[in-house]
Order: sequence, then structure tokens, then C-alpha cells
Amino acid sequence: MSITFHKNNRIVHMKNETISYIMEVLDGKYLVHCYFGKTLRKYHDNGQDYFFKRAYNTNNHLSIEHASLDDIQLELPVRGRGDFRIPVLSIIPENGIEYLDLHFKEWNILSEKPKLPGMPSTFGNQTEVETLEIICEDKIAKVRVYLYYSMFHEKGIIARHQRIENYGDQIIVIRNAKSLSLDLPSQNYDWISLYGTHAKEANLQRFTLHHGIQKIESVRGSSSLQHQPFFALLSPKTDEFHGEVYGFHLIYSGNFIAEAEMDQFGKVRAQIGINPDTFSWQLKAGDVFTTPEAILNYSQHGLNEMSQNFHWLYQYHLMPKQFENMKRPVLLNSWEAMYYDVSRDKIKEQTDLAKEAGIDLFVLDDGWFRDGLTSESPIGDWKCMEFKLPGGIKSVAKLVHDKGLKFGLWFEPEAISQNSQLYQQHPDWILYVPSYAMVEGRHEYLLDLSRTDVRDYIVHTFDTYLKDGDIDYVKWDMNRPLTDVNSQLLEKGQKGEIYHRYVLGLYEILERITKTYTNVLFEGCSSGGARFDPGILYYVGQNWCSDNTDGFDRVAIQSGFSMLYPPISMGSHVSIAPNHQTGRYTSLDTRYKVAKLFNLGYELDLKLCDKHELDAIHLQISNYKTMQELVLNGRFYRHDTFSENYQMWSLYDPKKEECMVMIFQKFYTPLSARGLFKIPYLDSDVNYYEISSQKIYGGDELKNIGVSIPLVQEDFHIFELHFKMN
Ligand code: DGJ
Repeated sequence: MSITFHKNNRIVHMKNETISYIMEVLDGKYLVHCYFGKTLRKYHDNGQDYFFKRAYNTNNHLSIEHASLDDIQLELPVRGRGDFRIPVLSIIPENGIEYLDLHFKEWNILSEKPKLPGMPSTFGNQTEVETLEIICEDKIAKVRVYLYYSMFHEKGIIARHQRIENYGDQIIVIRNAKSLSLDLPSQNYDWISLYGTHAKEANLQRFTLHHGIQKIESVRGSSSLQHQPFFALLSPKTDEFHGEVYGFHLIYSGNFIAEAEMDQFGKVRAQIGINPDTFSWQLKAGDVFTTPEAILNYSQHGLNEMSQNFHWLYQYHLMPKQFENMKRPVLLNSWEAMYYDVSRDKIKEQTDLAKEAGIDLFVLDDGWFRDGLTSESPIGDWKCMEFKLPGGIKSVAKLVHDKGLKFGLWFEPEAISQNSQLYQQHPDWILYVPSYAMVEGRHEYLLDLSRTDVRDYIVHTFDTYLKDGDIDYVKWDMNRPLTDVNSQLLEKGQKGEIYHRYVLGLYEILERITKTYTNVLFEGCSSGGARFDPGILYYVGQNWCSDNTDGFDRVAIQSGFSMLYPPISMGSHVSIAPNHQTGRYTSLDTRYKVAKLFNLGYELDLKLCDKHELDAIHLQISNYKTMQELVLNGRFYRHDTFSENYQMWSLYDPKKEECMVMIFQKFYTPLSARGLFKIPYLDSDVNYYEISSQKIYGGDELKNIGVSIPLVQEDFHIFELHFKMN
């Protein structure tokens, strides 16, 4: 890994064994992007496309004839001086004119990757990651911009963010501060991103980029069910194993924008960051604003390499260290068994059966603090209802612990309802706009996390429950988008800051709680996957993917999230059939096989299972325990299969001795060809033994011929294959 400066300090070349990132300072002023992609031995600086003569381009008085900012690949594009593409930064200085001309000042190699104040970010020591800081400034506006490029040694990954400093003596207003901008040369690109809704998260969409701006965004206050804060640009024939990919992911849990503009000449500008539509920030004299961190991820071997880069980064350089190599407890969650109707007797029944089945952790979901059986009963006071659970949470924890299980508890700490005592005492603690009727979501409002007193209240609530060590796991839920987004405490000129301040408030609370109770396993949840984002993953060990627990639908949902998140971080539960969300019937075996390459849990009323099913669950959990190491540290692959009717996943052991394969046949159809499924990454020179068929295959055969599966007359049939080196 190296960062080197050439040509009298005019060019910088950052590289590791996978990627090179090259920039140049043009005329001592503008920071120009030269190249990002596969590692180059050396950059010879033989000319850029800004030499082209274009009629009617604006003239920026640069030393290169014909050069215009509108035609140059820029690292820090702003509006006002002839670059008409999307800007990465927009500021209204003290004179009120939205205009900037940022000139290069200096670049420095930092000895450590900088931390982002109050925000989650990736981490690594000096041997793992190297950081380049570039400072640009506008001496008239008195604005300095610090750009950060942290290149990870092992992978094609660069973490990016920027800091904006007001070094004048007047207030300036930031209208837009995205985390990165990358200009790519003119060629054809496909766009992919993940869209969805409640109970159908993380669906892949792919289209060819066309001229103009293409974007996805969230304005719901969280990263959202509707779009992941992620997109990737691909060379057109890219599949899971081949092709060039530029991935962009934002480590942020609030409103975001992810966009790409194909300009008049076919060049592409890609940006990701806080959504400027719902953001402005007053920067007082001497103050600094820091954007969230964004991840740039380059793969030359298709989508699997991009995904594995993200998995590696998030498991080893983002999630809390104590979870990096922790085999997760197999849990039983009470939600689909009890909903709001929780009781001590039910908990006792479920935990008795859970213990026999080999479950490690019982999670008491929603309902324990509600005086009724619906979401209309109050939320926000966090007092256990003794009529449901005599002796309170302490007594439930004892019951569960005495059984030899760990105990987990559900909270929705950001929510408050009007019929709570908390609201009666502190009606100003919620987000609302005076004089207007408030908008309810799931009979709830949201606490104003930008307030210190609110944050202290939430931290205090957790202290009360966690300080005695009764609770081993917390499910942190959040079930509504932000509306009426106004804080009573913010001054008029700062009203545009509230969305971001809410997220900063959330991060402060999570930091205080999760760093104090490091022995507690936290799971993120937001009506399923509405806040399954890298920002939350910085604080928790796992995230709930979706309220849809139907085996069939889960294949697509988990495939989608696997684009970005390591299998161990993805909560995958076996529930009852017919499924509560879809009414579909799938076998217990099928439901297990869909979940078993991920973070396995159960979410069903064990009383409804007969002896045969309970025995089967017991066997499943024992089986899972034998392969938990593979789930924790294996490489996850999605496979392009020959037909849309089939989907295939595999997990490959890092020691290369073992490989677990799941093939899903969606529907039985006589039109299906006999399936041959290749495993392209295996070692050609090694033989593999497939456990269920007891057949031996050469690695070269599995790579080139593939393994065949029969045509089974059954919808949604799953084939499991387990290869061990022979
Ligand atoms: C939404 C979550 O996604 C569910 O798993 C469950 O915890 C409910 N909230 C409880 O209200």
C-alpha cells in the first residue's frame, strides 16, 4: 500500500494490490480526478480529455487551451464557475451568494485514520489503512474543505468523507454537503440498487444509465425500507463473477441521496451523501461540519467480489469488535407466538420447549410494557405491566436464566404516544410543528433526539434495565418514518438541521449505551429492515432483515441484503406455516434451509409444534452449531444460474476445505432443463466429497461441468449440498 506524489507534487497516486486512485492538481488550483480502478504500476500522465476543443464551453482561464470545468473530471465539484453537473458541496457564504471557487492548498498523509465526531465510521490500524487528507480553500468565502481518502490495504475499498471549515468571522450556511463525488470516464454503465417496502425489502433493480440524473433517496428520516443508501455502477455484462463494479454505500441512518449524472459527453458523476433536500446547516465562525463516511468499493470480478469486500469491511472494520468473531446465540423471539399478549405462563411454556430444542436465547418482544393488546396502548414509559408479568422484567429474566437460557428484551426507545405519562409530563419532547395537528404513525410520535434531556432519559431507561446484568440482548426497534420534523429548541435559522441532528442524537445514545454494556448483544430493527444500514451496524451485532418470515420471499430479501451485509449480521428466523405474512405453506425443513447460512433464529409458537417438529428443530439447531464457524467466517456467494427459476447461494470456508451450497427451485415446471450448477471458485486440483450423495467430484468438474440436481415435482424445493475436501 502506498501514497506517492509525482511531478513536483502535482499528482498523487494511492494504490494497494487491488486498486489505484490518482488525482492531479491543475494549474495549482483545481483537484482533478485522473483514475480509479485496477492497480496501475505507474501513472505516466499522458493527457486527459480536457484537451478537447468544444464549442461554446465556458473558459476558465486555465493554462491548457480549451480546458473548461464543465468537461473535466473533478474531485470537489461546486457550482458557479462553469461546471454545470451535480455539485458535491453548496454553501451560502456571508454575502448571500451561493458561489464557491475552491483551490487546492495542500495534501497530507495522516498517521491514523481520522474518527468522525459523533458519527459511525470504519476503523483500522496503521498497517490496515492509510489516509490522504486534501485541503482546498476559497480565500474570499473563507471556507476550507478537507477531503479524506482512507484506502484499506487488503481490498478495493476507499472510505471517504469531507469536513467543511468556516474560518471567517461570519455565519455561513451549508445547503449541500455530500460525502463523496467520483467522476468516471465516458463508457456504458448499468446501475444497480436495492428498493423495497415493508415486508419486501432489498429487491435488486438494474438498468442502463442514460443521459441526465438518476437517483434514489430517502426523505423519511431513516435510511428506509424503500431504498438502501447504496448503488453500484457496473460494466454492462457484469454478473456475480465477472465484470467491473464501482459500489457506493453510505454509513448513515438518515435521509440520503445516491445519484449518478451522465453528462453531455457520456462521462458519469456519482455521488452519495446526506440528502440536500431536507438539510441545511449554519456554520458559525470557526466551526467545522463533518459529513458521514461513504464507502467506495471497486471490484474487477463482478458483484460477489464487491459484496465480499463490503462483508469483510463491515465485519472486521465497522461492527463492534466483540462481535467480530462471536458465534451468535440461536434465539427464540416471542413476537409471532404472542404478539402483544405476553404473559409469564406463556414465557414459561415457550422457554421449557425452547430449552429442550437447544435454543440459546429467549427474546421477549413488544407487549411487556403495554396495558393493552394493540399498538394503541401507551409507549414511552418503559414500565413493565405487572398484571401481565408479575414481578416485572427482573422476575422474567430470572425465569429465563434459571432455565439455562439467555434473556433478551425489545425496546422502541425513540417512540412516545400521547397516552403515555411521559407525554403528559413533557409534551415538548416530541417532534412537532406548533399550531398543526400532529401526524401519528402506529399510534406513535417520535421523541426529539436532538435534545439533551431526551437523550439522557433514554440512556437512563436503559441503565435501569441493563445495569444489573439481567439482560443479555436488546432488540432496538423503530417503527415509523419521521413527520412533523421540528424541534422546539432550535432557532429559526437552524430549523433545517433537525433531520441530521436527530440522527446525531440517535448515534450519541447508541454510543453511550452500547459502549457501556459491551456484554449485551444489540440487534437493530426498524419495522424489519428500514434502518438496516452501516450506520446502525457500527453499534450492533446483527439486524432484523424483514417482518416477512416466509421462506420463499426470504430468498429474495436475504439475497438483496447479502449484496452488502455479512451473513452473520442478518437475522433470519424460522417461523410457523402457514406463514403469518403471506399465508404460504412451506415445510419446516425448507424454512430452516433458507435461514441456515445466516444468523439463525426461531420466531414461532413452539406449542403449535408436534413432537416430530420439535425433534426436527432440535436437530436443525445441532446441525447449525456444527456449521456456525462457516456462517461466521465463510465467504458468501450468490450464483448466476441458467434459469430465472433457480437461485443458488454458497458459503466457502476460508481454509478452502468445505463448501455449503443451497439451490432453490422456485416452481416445478416441465419446461425446466436438467440443472447443472457450477461452483467456479473451487480448487481445480482437489477432489471434493458431497456428504448427502456420498459422491466424489473433482474441483475442476464442479467448476466446469457443475453438479446436477433432479427435477423435483414441487414448488419451492431446496437442494442442499455440502462438499468437503477429500
Ligand atoms: C416491528 C418488528 O420488525 C417486529 O419484529 C416486532 O418487533 C414488532 N415491530 C413489534 O412491535
